[in-house]
Amino acid sequence: MKDITVRKLNKDEKIPYDLLLLADPSIHIIEDYLKRGCCYVAYIDENIAAAYVIIKTRPLTMELVNIAVNEKFQGMGIGKQLILHAIEVAKEEKVKVVEVGTGNSSISQLALYQKCGFRIVGIDRDFFIKHYKEKIIENGIQCVDMIRLSIDL
Ligand SMILES: CC(C)(COP(=O)(O)OP(=O)(O)OC[C@H]1O[C@@H](n2cnc3c(N)ncnc32)[C@H](O)[C@@H]1OP(=O)(O)O)[C@@H](O)C(=O)NCCC(=O)NCCS
Repeated sequence: MKDITVRKLNKDEKIPYDLLLLADPSIHIIEDYLKRGCCYVAYIDENIAAAYVIIKTRPLTMELVNIAVNEKFQGMGIGKQLILHAIEVAKEEKVKVVEVGTGNSSISQLALYQKCGFRIVGIDRDFFIKHYKEKIIENGIQCVDMIRLSIDL
């Protein structure tokens, strides 16, 4: 497992948009999430290698709305470490549920979230048709629905 150091990004610091855009092609949606939540960054040595954004959505509920690992460092356990970090942040906030959503075509993301303890709770049908102009294809599957998952803390 790769060694990382995770810290909260201050509001006046440079946002790692290049990373966040790996997880979400919409800059407008990313900016909206950043206004409403906190961005955490993971360093390998001096460089930011991964990031996530978590927001408080409802009382006792937070949502992990973006998570991305630099392509060079994917598959080394960093994504998993960040998800577990987000769960700890939520626990410190005395939150009871952490939610996450991913595309029906995001096979490895669905595997990863379930390996971290998330369970499928619903489907937001046509989410990606309604909210994204461009057609998204992954693993040869069109991304149309958002699979909603959550973990009880
Ligand atoms: C998704 C992402 C954050 C994962 O981060 P990562 O550091 O590459 O992932 P990790 O190495 O921590 O873990 C991957 C885990 O998923 C598992 N996994 C991945 N694909 C899998 C598959 N098809 N079937 C089963 N397990 C799979 C791996 O086996 C590993 O689990 P393990 O530790 O138990 O072996 C990263 O690939 C990324 O930034 N992707 C682009 C942005 C993105 O899609 N973000 C999420 C939007 S919902």
